[in-house]
Amino acid sequence: MEKEIKTRAFVRAAAIFVLMFLLICVSAFVKYRAYGSFNDNGRDYSLILALAGSGVCVLLLLVSLFTYFIYSRQTMIEKTKELAAICTAVVLSCVVCIGVSALGLFYMPMALAAFVLVPLSARRDVFIANIVTNLIVSVILLFESIMGSKVEAIPVVAMMIIGIFTGSIVAYTMSDVVRRVIYVMRGIAIGATTLALLFVSSLIVNTFYFVDEIGFLCIPAFGQVLVGLLLQPVFESVFNILTNTKLTELTDHNAPLIKMLINDALGTFNHSITVASFAEVCALRIGENPYLAKACAYYHDVGKIKNPTFFSENQSGYNPHDELLPEVSAKILRAHTTDGYELCLKHHIPIEVASVTLQHHGTLPMAVFYAKAKKLTDGDVDINEYSYHGETPVTKIAAIIMICDACEAALRARNKPTGAEVEAIVGGIINDRIARRQFDNCDITLRDLNIIKHTITGLYGGLYHERVQYPSGKAGGNA
Ligand SMILES: [Fe+2]
Ligand SMILES: [Fe+2]
Repeated sequence: MEKEIKTRAFVRAAAIFVLMFLLICVSAFVKYRAYGSFNDNGRDYSLILALAGSGVCVLLLLVSLFTYFIYSRQTMIEKTKELAAICTAVVLSCVVCIGVSALGLFYMPMALAAFVLVPLSARRDVFIANIVTNLIVSVILLFESIMGSKVEAIPVVAMMIIGIFTGSIVAYTMSDVVRRVIYVMRGIAIGATTLALLFVSSLIVNTFYFVDEIGFLCIPAFGQVLVGLLLQPVFESVFNILTNTKLTELTDHNAPLIKMLINDALGTFNHSITVASFAEVCALRIGENPYLAKACAYYHDVGKIKNPTFFSENQSGYNPHDELLPEVSAKILRAHTTDGYELCLKHHIPIEVASVTLQHHGTLPMAVFYAKAKKLTDGDVDINEYSYHGETPVTKIAAIIMICDACEAALRARNKPTGAEVEAIVGGIINDRIARRQFDNCDITLRDLNIIKHTITGLYGGLYHERVQYPSGKAGGNA
């Protein structure tokens, strides 16, 4: 698994090099068209900016990769990808802004980086990336102003303030947007606000740049919304960043692997849905991404598609394990984790989701077959042969899935447990995983585990409560 992840990281590093090279070429070309020369008395700032930006981006990427190779942790990969995406968006936005300025249009799409990054990164990162972009562009324009070009300093400062302001609005009002249409509507509203602010600032600083060019101003003000929308899927795929939109698409019942689950292992599909309903709320309560938790729950058992009838939730009376030796049964059960991981990779499911298929059973023993083997051999059994050989959870989400998965199975096996019994079962499962050191590689806290315990207990009560019997003897079906 790690080898594949490292290979992917290298491919992304190579992609960034190519992208940076293209940016430099585009930037140089724009300057050439504007001034008729690549070196207009030393004022080819866009080229210098692109080169410096590329250098910083590549350096940060190499440092991230180096750190990753030392620690080999999944969290490092996520940080590497996000860092690379943020650097690229900042450099790209700076080059576009300087390119637009070289074409003679005064107002630039200063919030472009924010529009590109808003579904890909955390709010704070988008906020900082937008400020950095605005500062870089403003410093270059002020430098041009000092060097005697037609650019004036006061409108540049006004534009920077507006760029930082509108970019911050983007970061803090659009980061939860999942539907593209809402993104466009809010983007247009922010574009209109930008135009209004430019107009007002133009009156305040008494320059007519903005008023004279109000028609042209619409192009970058609204154009950045559409360019951002077009670039988001490109960034998603180049840097393999998981967005809430992508996660929502993964849990669509028409997604290929989910369809296979519905057709070939309906019991597993139902189990996964219930695990998802627990995991989503648990993730929300401990500050993790509920969309990611839901997707991981949907895919955690896809490996069962290969041998669906060997898993109890897909059996109806006949159990093939009755005719098998316990070591053969254990082998079949164990395989669903690696089979699931391979299926996920084959269907291009993101690594954050795929890795949970390997981690959701950790290194836990398969109690039923271990007990059966002990009976057959008078107790002389190596527990390792009856345990899962996967990885233990490395993220809080993987730990949530491990707990919710076991709780769903244990609670389903019980006949109408009381609230106190449910709490005891869930608490017992969590304590057992702690005792077996399943959470040693992830940063889940005892506080998180306590919240998860109470969440599952509460949710179970809500899911399986008694329904009022209608006079006809049927449970009510109108609610
Ligand atoms: Fe499983
Ligand atoms: Fe499961």
